[in-house]
Amino acid sequence: MLSLSSTPKMLILNSLLFFLLAGGILCDKPNFVIILTDDQDVTMGGMTPMKHVRRLIGEEGMTFANTFVSSPICCPSRASILTGLHVHNHGTRNNTLRGGCYGPQWKKLETNTFATALQGAGYRTFYAGKYLNEYGKKDRGATVPPGWTEWHGLVGNSVYYNYTLSNNGVPTYSEDLYLTDIIRDMSVNFIENQTEPFLMVLAPPAPHQPFTPAPRHRDAFRDITAPRTPIFNVAAKDKHWLMTMPPSPLPESMLPELDRAYRSRWEALLAVDEMVADVIATLNKGEKDNTYVIYTSDNGYHVGQFSQVYDKRQPYESDIRVPLLIKGPAIKPNVTSLQPVMNIDLAPTILQLAGLEVPETMDGRVIDVIDENPVKERTMLVEYFGQGQDGAVDSKCPWKYDSEYLDECRPLYNCKCQDSRNNTYACLRRIGKQGNDKYCEFRDTKDFIEIYDLDADPYEVSNLKNETMGAFIAWYHHVLNIMLSCEGCDCDPTFVDR
Ligand SMILES: *[C@@H]1O[C@H](CO)[C@@H](O)[C@H](O)[C@H]1NC(C)=O
Ligand SMILES: *[C@@H]1O[C@H](CO)[C@@H](O)[C@H](O)[C@H]1NC(C)=O
Ligand SMILES: *[C@@H]1O[C@H](CO)[C@@H](O)[C@H](O)[C@H]1NC(C)=O
Ligand SMILES: *[C@@H]1O[C@H](CO)[C@@H](O)[C@H](O)[C@H]1NC(C)=O
Repeated sequence: MLSLSSTPKMLILNSLLFFLLAGGILCDKPNFVIILTDDQDVTMGGMTPMKHVRRLIGEEGMTFANTFVSSPICCPSRASILTGLHVHNHGTRNNTLRGGCYGPQWKKLETNTFATALQGAGYRTFYAGKYLNEYGKKDRGATVPPGWTEWHGLVGNSVYYNYTLSNNGVPTYSEDLYLTDIIRDMSVNFIENQTEPFLMVLAPPAPHQPFTPAPRHRDAFRDITAPRTPIFNVAAKDKHWLMTMPPSPLPESMLPELDRAYRSRWEALLAVDEMVADVIATLNKGEKDNTYVIYTSDNGYHVGQFSQVYDKRQPYESDIRVPLLIKGPAIKPNVTSLQPVMNIDLAPTILQLAGLEVPETMDGRVIDVIDENPVKERTMLVEYFGQGQDGAVDSKCPWKYDSEYLDECRPLYNCKCQDSRNNTYACLRRIGKQGNDKYCEFRDTKDFIEIYDLDADPYEVSNLKNETMGAFIAWYHHVLNIMLSCEGCDCDPTFVDR
């Protein structure tokens, strides 16, 4: 009886709270702490070592079990997170300056991120760690991007030692201070001295290559090996050509290196887990209860699936799914939400929770952090631009396919290549009552297509292209083309049925 009578009240209270927060009627604006890891998967057990994160954010808030990225690669995904835009709208196509990573077009968009919006609304804002891969390479970090009150951006890509941090525009080199721990210390300091409201982004390098754990965590997972799922080191069939390149399967002698990478990733994540615990303890000590804590990653990862080595960049679930956990003042504890969410949703969600107007130009939708079972239907777009250039193949590797612009082929990987210029694709990822599927088109000479039914085939073993009627393929193609030129709310069809 108690539960029957209290449920509607709870609902009303929650809706009221949401209304107040969303409408900005409370002068007490919430704080935001966003933890953005680098290359953390969710399908291969990437959250298993995160005991504190699961307890302090997951059990205190919502875990979004269907979270996808707009592109499974660092710089494009980070640009999407900051702006709420799809790749075709922010133009950051790959991790290089020429591909739009921290290039001229980005500099224009950078004045319209969730950070500039919140700073404009009176927030004190803080960033520490990896920003965009090309940040600071030209001026060694002399530029502080717009929107940040306190800035500790990492120059270049993720590393653990021997890095330059731009401390509010002053480049500071450090040889032997473990970067995740430095981010923790600066974050705790910032919270202790802060007047509210504030926004923080903590972007540690883990678990990115070279997967270096803090010395205290070395060998913490000595006996862990990469999971031997049904597709571990199994040759790919009916997949685009890069996936079928030799050696496939990988030689047995390669597997210890995959296991080393897997366990080192977990070990490198332990310092992140500790950082989150310390940051939340500091929030609690300062009674900063009106704080949303958001935990996510820029892209997923694979280790050994379909005889690949270890990397991201592919359209499979391992690479496009990421963790997302959110706790905060109006969020129910210990709830798993199945609503389909994308990284482009974070910016509009933060703006809405801060009581600010969400610009119509943003492609993402506001995440429902109140209702456990909101609409679970959505048609999502994933875009990837293959990287590869002439001469990128290590000379010790036998491949001479220069016209294909292979990339990431190294003797350490038995010369297995991880990318190529025409590993360029766009996918529809549909989740809804009528289906749970994926349709991908590759921009290669064959216009290669992959189709998977994720309910029947969660490991994406069977490409259904040849079993799918031409009319359905034409329909998928049509919807994909619409999505590829979408802007703003056009990018958010709930579930387009064929
Ligand atoms: C950092 O650089 C120093 C000096 O070049 C080198 O001795 C050291 O091995 C480097 N450390 C790491 C972890 O790469
Ligand atoms: C925080 O405040 C303490 C005490 O007032 C001061 O010593 C410290 O330098 C401040 N830290 C920062 C990062 O401002
Ligand atoms: C959270 O939910 C899980 C699964 O329903 C349950 O096992 C666990 O005890 C819950 N934790 C708390 C703190 O309520
Ligand atoms: C990145 O994208 C740009 C623009 O499409 C392209 O010119 C460049 O070659 C790409 N870089 C790599 C390494 O593939």
